[in-house]
Amino acid sequence: MSAILPPSERLWYKHPIDRVEGTWIAIALTWCLIMFFMMVGWHIWGDQNLSTETYRTTPERFTEKTQAMVDKYTVRTETDEKIPVVAPPPGSDVYLIARLWNFWPILELEKGKTYRLHLTALDYNHGFSLQPTNINIQMVPGFEHVVTVTPNQSGQFSIVCNEFCGIGHHQMVGRLYVK
Ligand code: CUA
Repeated sequence: MSAILPPSERLWYKHPIDRVEGTWIAIALTWCLIMFFMMVGWHIWGDQNLSTETYRTTPERFTEKTQAMVDKYTVRTETDEKIPVVAPPPGSDVYLIARLWNFWPILELEKGKTYRLHLTALDYNHGFSLQPTNINIQMVPGFEHVVTVTPNQSGQFSIVCNEFCGIGHHQMVGRLYVK
């Protein structure tokens, strides 16, 4: 039988399944299940897929809290856009805004100290991809994602937006310092 002719029996799903086909379906299903449960495994043993708490917020409310932190703990400014570098005290709530097309402010955290990192997007969907670690969180307007983080490595990290957000998407890169 050729594929360009209509099948003589239209009810294909009533035909017995071929042994080879059945084997492949079983292999594919097993692999799907392994991949699915690995997501849970990465979270527990791989220190990835961080669990976030999510709350509703508004751009005004979130900006207000971020601005308060920036006013209090800015230590210097960086880049041509004069983005404040903020060093909030260990254990505190820290805020990061994503918007067209930057991350604001630049955070400077201490190694081995725990922070509550609050993330939001002010306008459209953005991504928080912390390089070179494998941390990846979606930043959604109207929602505040809170992650409890304890940096275990010092240095300069890049925050890359990995949700396509328009013409400046490729330039949307931020910094995060750990000392
Ligand atoms: Cu923000 Cu892409």
